[in-house]
Amino acid sequence: MNLQELSSHVAAEFQKHYGRAPRWIVAAPGRVNVIGEHTDYNDGFVLPMAIERYAVMAADLPPSQFASAQTQITIFDIHFDEKATIDLIAPITKGLPKWSNYIRGVLAGFQNRGQTIPALDIAFMSTVPLGGGLSSSAALEVCTATLVEAATGKTIDPVEKALLAQKAEHDFAGVPCGIMDQFISALGREGNLLLLDCRTRKTELVPMSDPSVALLVINTNVKHELSGGEYAERRAQCEEAAKNLGVKSLRDCTPEKLEQGRGKLSEVVFRRARHVIGEIERTVHAAEGIRESNWPSVGQLMYASHASLRDDYEVSCAELDAVVEIAEDIGYQGGVYGCRMTGGGFGGCCVALVKASDVDAITQQIAAEYKAKTGIDATIFSSRPAAGATIVKG
Ligand code: GLA
Repeated sequence: MNLQELSSHVAAEFQKHYGRAPRWIVAAPGRVNVIGEHTDYNDGFVLPMAIERYAVMAADLPPSQFASAQTQITIFDIHFDEKATIDLIAPITKGLPKWSNYIRGVLAGFQNRGQTIPALDIAFMSTVPLGGGLSSSAALEVCTATLVEAATGKTIDPVEKALLAQKAEHDFAGVPCGIMDQFISALGREGNLLLLDCRTRKTELVPMSDPSVALLVINTNVKHELSGGEYAERRAQCEEAAKNLGVKSLRDCTPEKLEQGRGKLSEVVFRRARHVIGEIERTVHAAEGIRESNWPSVGQLMYASHASLRDDYEVSCAELDAVVEIAEDIGYQGGVYGCRMTGGGFGGCCVALVKASDVDAITQQIAAEYKAKTGIDATIFSSRPAAGATIVKG
């Protein structure tokens, strides 16, 4: 479903559920990170792109005859046929159902800015796979923030919007994430990747319009769960490395400096730091490679990124490794330039850079071999770089 079809579907569901047409429709995309993994919370670079998979909300003010509805937000989750209500009288806190916390967190962020949030009736649906490492939660957060903007007529700076959404993830979902996911969902531009310097928060568009290549997203369909503690542990290890090496963050460390300071780090923390420092360099080089359409070079950097995430950072898993091995076997001759796990890890998706003319054959081969190796059906799709959050109607 493209964004227009999805928006119409959500509008029709709103109509069915609430008995009238929605006044606003807003959308925010998920993302795939081409390279630059676990670098965002180390002040490094990331290179994500927004994908043509979206969280969409259709909304209206509640009818004025229902007095009780004037102080609450009602959200109807179309896919799961489930309803959540959020009381606007008191400061917004965590609550049930669990998914409503992404929305609650964003609304609380607006409350903290002194913004009055209107009562709303909302219908919601997302085509970003859940738990697939494609930032379904960031899409939901940024979508919510965009709805508040539409409904109040007050837009906020997109960087602040991304930070507000990130805080929702920290405080209401318990994941101490970096800033990549919310940034790309808020600031993505059609036809472009986004090179984000997570230290300065400066962004640079990197056009990805060569029709001879495509990005394939391969979902292992092994669920990833970042609130399990592994993510927070990696983050703490990076902070420990920076402290012991005497730098503000690993962004300030070179491979030489790391080697010199090796004695000050445990073996594990040394490997974590080696990943981050190498990955920051690879990301900058990959952005150059994309600008020059040097696809073989970008592909090699992707493979190197995967190996480092697997061996040094230890956030891959057997299924992600299986996909990358299959892609490597298909190789350059078969149209694959490079492949790597993408997102937080421990399951979720791989991203592959492939020749556009070979997309179908590669998709079939990866699906068949992955099934044979793991017994699991992968979900595979390609996406052009999509636009960030948009007000579709209103
Ligand atoms: C998750 C986080 C991001 C980033 C990635 C790893 O997606 O939300 O901030 O740290 O993991 O690169």
